[in-house]
Amino acid sequence: MPSLADLNARISTPSRLLQAPGPTAAQLVQMLEAAMHVPDHGRLAPWRFVQISGEARLALGEILVARLREREPGASTAALEKERLRFACAPCIITVVGQPVRGHKVPEIEQLLSGGAVCHSLLHAAHALGFAAQWLTSWVAYDPVVKARLGLGNDEHVLGFIHIGSATEPPSERPRPALNDRLSQWAP
Ligand SMILES: Cc1cc2nc3c(=O)[nH]c(=O)nc-3n(C[C@H](O)[C@H](O)[C@H](O)COP(=O)(O)O)c2cc1C
Repeated sequence: MPSLADLNARISTPSRLLQAPGPTAAQLVQMLEAAMHVPDHGRLAPWRFVQISGEARLALGEILVARLREREPGASTAALEKERLRFACAPCIITVVGQPVRGHKVPEIEQLLSGGAVCHSLLHAAHALGFAAQWLTSWVAYDPVVKARLGLGNDEHVLGFIHIGSATEPPSERPRPALNDRLSQWAP
């Protein structure tokens, strides 16, 4: 069981600060198995994974460059270069795809929340095995052309790109919300 200390110690490392080594194939299986161990109303498993690693990362970068040129013909060289390298740093990126079952009695939002839990569990699983990680989306997650190139169907959602690797430098902590601001007592 993760301890409270483990939960409190999780912190994102910006993807530009991630590098090899990433998880071995066996470690990745362990992480993904753990990530699937989430609450799932109706046992629908309304999510799946698409791994992006090796040369596929740069190939995806070229797709993003071409797509940004279409979306923004005046995009700057720096903006295009950012897209080229968006997936280039972390050695392993896991796309968590939500595939809600339409018309099911379990509301779609609950199915997507289960997928969000998968993303969060995957972050913790990566940390548990000594890796650094970050959950990212950006325009890439919502662009229909990019989604199609990633193999997603029309009814599927990118819930997150989980970048996993080794940190080039320790991430800095950020202020966390104060519990007093977030907690109230319900009274009838
Ligand atoms: C659904 C989701 C999408 C996110 N997408 C981005 C993103 O595209 N770019 C970004 O800088 N941070 C994004 N974040 C935030 C980072 O994952 C991370 O939470 C943030 O850097 C703060 O670090 P922390 O996880 O240590 O609190 C996203 C978070 C969530 C939950």
